[in-house]
Amino acid sequence: MSRAVHEHIRSKLLERTSADNLRTLRVNSGMADFFSNDYLGFARNKALFDAAHNEVLNIAEREGFEPMERKSVSISGSTGSRLLSGNNSYVEQLEQQLAEFYEGEAALLFNSGYDANLGILSSIPYKDATVIYDELVHASMHDGMRLGKADRVAFRHNDLEDLKAKLRTTKGLKFVAIEALYSMDGDEAALAGIMALCRQYEAAVIIDEAHSNGIIGNKGEGKAQAEGLHRDIFMRIYTFGKAIGAHGAVAICSAETKQFLINYCRPFIFSTALPMHALAAIKAAYDHLPQADKERKQLNDNIALFTGNIKPNPLFTLIESKSPIQSLVISGNANTKEIAKTIQDKGYDARPILAPTVPTGKERIRICLHSFNTAEEIYDLTDAINNL
Ligand SMILES: Cc1ncc(COP(=O)(O)O)c(C=O)c1O
Repeated sequence: MSRAVHEHIRSKLLERTSADNLRTLRVNSGMADFFSNDYLGFARNKALFDAAHNEVLNIAEREGFEPMERKSVSISGSTGSRLLSGNNSYVEQLEQQLAEFYEGEAALLFNSGYDANLGILSSIPYKDATVIYDELVHASMHDGMRLGKADRVAFRHNDLEDLKAKLRTTKGLKFVAIEALYSMDGDEAALAGIMALCRQYEAAVIIDEAHSNGIIGNKGEGKAQAEGLHRDIFMRIYTFGKAIGAHGAVAICSAETKQFLINYCRPFIFSTALPMHALAAIKAAYDHLPQADKERKQLNDNIALFTGNIKPNPLFTLIESKSPIQSLVISGNANTKEIAKTIQDKGYDARPILAPTVPTGKERIRICLHSFNTAEEIYDLTDAINNL
């Protein structure tokens, strides 16, 4: 590598270090979990693990380990993209199960939520169209828009007046990109109002249900469906890495749009499909999800316990949220890291979220609550925060 390249890399890292936001990998500490997205404990649920494990063993027994051309599924790696060797009846049945669960016409699996958002937003909104997006949508939506050919314009977070102004002044085909439950603020989209405006201005809605999936709705079906608004939504994206406790994502759309994605969506076309172990974990989670009332109730009880015990504090502003995501906005990277460390030193793993992941001045500690956090842990955590 040339010296200039080394110098570039070093100077970019120094930039981060001096802004107090150098990202580093940390091995999980074993402290009380107030940072993972495993809202319902599915990622640590033994019954789900056993169900997925037994499913793979049963398929292996049935299919054997013959060369690929002599069997219908490959037990370990999927061996190729869905358009080549990576497709099989198991993945198609899983898509059918998900389309039914989400009451959509069709479902298309993706290797991750990042891939889904990247691929959908870069392939569908074409030249001369505009994507009007909530300013707080996830980085994967931004990256998709950047790769795509459509224009893009932000509207202020959840601000219906601003959205209306942007819809009114935008020419050509319009898409509106939102999240159902915002990943950093933990608040929900003003969905009914957004849908009414999108109907009025004939805009197609793309909603990312990454954080609402599994926890909103009687069966964990997410916000759009729980509010009966799903049939009017052009595209819904549900990820599996959070409450589902697995990995991957699914896009719910019309059969024709699915066909479009199979033809034009590059992360879908040019990547090896999910392996059987991942598919079995997703299936086990969705077989259980409609019955996971106990976990959803425990989660909601824990959210009420946290919000009921946390007190106003001049050190931070608590963003109002009824969700598992509770953000203490502190401002300043160094400051936020220091306060997070004080909380971690007491045995509670809550992580600082720094600029540029969140806007400068909005640096925060994001506390993620779960069904499995004990009442004692939550009392102790709120005590620790109240005594900062
Ligand atoms: C709102 C939102 N959308 C999409 C993603 C990406 O999903 P995945 O982790 O499955 O790539 C995330 C993950 O952080 C997210 O928070």
